[in-house]
Amino acid sequence: MSRRTGLDERPTNYGDPAFARYLRRSFAKSMGYSGRMLDRPIVGIATSASGFNNCHRLTPELTEAVTRGVLGAGGLPLEFPTISLGEVFLSPTSFVFRNLMAMDVEEMIRAQPMGAVVLVGGCDKTVPAQLMGAISAGVPAIQLVVGPMMTGRYRGERLGACTDCRRFWARYRSGEVSEPEIAAVEDTLAVTAGTCAVMGTASTMACLAEALGMSLAGSAAVPAVHADRLRIAEATGAEAVRLSTAGTPPDSIVTGRSIDNALRVLLAVGGSTNAVIHLAAIAGRVGLSLDLRRLNDLSDSTPVLVDLKPTGQHYMEDFHAAGGVGAVLHELRPLLNLECRSVTGQTLEERLRDRPSFVDRAVIRSFDEPFQRTGGLLALFGNLAPNGAILKRSAADARFFEHEGRAVVFTSLEDLAARIDDPALDVRPDDVLVLQNAGPIGAGMPEAGYLPIPSTLARAGVKDMVRVSDARMSGTAFGTVILHVSPECAVGGPLGLVRPGDRIRVSVKERRLDVLLTDRELESRRSALVRPPLPSRGYAQLYVRSVLGAELGCDFDFLRRP
Ligand code: FES
Repeated sequence: MSRRTGLDERPTNYGDPAFARYLRRSFAKSMGYSGRMLDRPIVGIATSASGFNNCHRLTPELTEAVTRGVLGAGGLPLEFPTISLGEVFLSPTSFVFRNLMAMDVEEMIRAQPMGAVVLVGGCDKTVPAQLMGAISAGVPAIQLVVGPMMTGRYRGERLGACTDCRRFWARYRSGEVSEPEIAAVEDTLAVTAGTCAVMGTASTMACLAEALGMSLAGSAAVPAVHADRLRIAEATGAEAVRLSTAGTPPDSIVTGRSIDNALRVLLAVGGSTNAVIHLAAIAGRVGLSLDLRRLNDLSDSTPVLVDLKPTGQHYMEDFHAAGGVGAVLHELRPLLNLECRSVTGQTLEERLRDRPSFVDRAVIRSFDEPFQRTGGLLALFGNLAPNGAILKRSAADARFFEHEGRAVVFTSLEDLAARIDDPALDVRPDDVLVLQNAGPIGAGMPEAGYLPIPSTLARAGVKDMVRVSDARMSGTAFGTVILHVSPECAVGGPLGLVRPGDRIRVSVKERRLDVLLTDRELESRRSALVRPPLPSRGYAQLYVRSVLGAELGCDFDFLRRP
């Protein structure tokens, strides 16, 4: 029997496939499609727009362009919604819903008849969720990111969400910026549709999707409002029709070698710490583990090439104009696995055959004259982080790379909020701020790892301190912030055993993070721990029961490929 294709794929189960086909076509015809249209290959368009998602505001226009591309290439485009994760609108944090979205994407791709799917999204957790879901669904897929925002202006100064949001907020907290000024800045930080204007998590994941080969060459950095974004959407639609015929599954594109390429790009663009978690989760969907020691090896041999906020000074629109991911790949060429193929079938070697005609070296440096000699991210290990922790060294203060300090401990997010600005807080600039119980199970792993400088110190001019937590940090943030400490406090991780006044030692040279306590002392403190109760119901309970550690991407244990 020939394979069912188009609308006939994955029939509803009535125990009578012919009836299912007849019924499905009848109902599809109620939408006005001709029989000839319904015989075409179907391309699903997974969208994720919502009134709670500013980044995806132009999704309808993008979808229209994808539709144009699919129709022009002889396919039938059928849009379908999945949940939408607007970064700043979700509580406790969008991160806990990434796996829910990945499940939604996977199940809706698998359940509905489509030969290929275009994944339209961009805001932080969306691209990882879409890639994770599509890989597990096993249907040919192509990513289309919505593109970054343009910058705004405040009194002649260029501003972009969200590195400048944080910079101004820190200045407001230290008293440098007044109440009316911060209100005026609020109007100018995010001025167009699209994802954050710097190399935050969304931009990083867009670059990684292109580096993995899951989106079209040259598509990652084109601004959301640029006409090229629509042309890319149209081309993506056309490519999806070809993919539906070729039947190329995502796990033939996302492989150990393409993940290695993506890690190189992550390091070279000074990308977000969150991307390490997302890439680990994506790797898990093809049955691989992301080795954090391998990240360190790559970090030592991959320079930061891109001078972009939060690491440098430029914005995503500059990165696009400077040459984008293609220019970065050209510089990294000797380090890349060139045999990797993208969704178009083109190998990386074929893509990089011709050098770009123009690269703005103020934004994308050459391999020989990089922005920073070594990669932006490092994994640290030690008795405080047996399974690893992450430091974005490109955004950290090198004064703290070899540092020992007294622990100032906050036992929860609530404790942090209550005491960080207390004038009576006993804290000095060389102390180490520790936030406990903010990991995946403890608190949904919010972007709280960028602990504010206590206001008594901020007002005295202190700009950075060593901060350690099992939380995450926004990709747009900066500072000497050690994150993703694993195992997390809520499962008895050693970070939860630290007490005020303990000495903590950081060594970037040795890749270590330790508390200066004996194993015996740690064990005796651990035996006194009381585990928090499980949430009583619903997704929160599923999450706490099933979420894995940061080193495994915080995916659910039952969603990783064995
Ligand atoms: Fe959506 Fe920053 S808020 S990418």
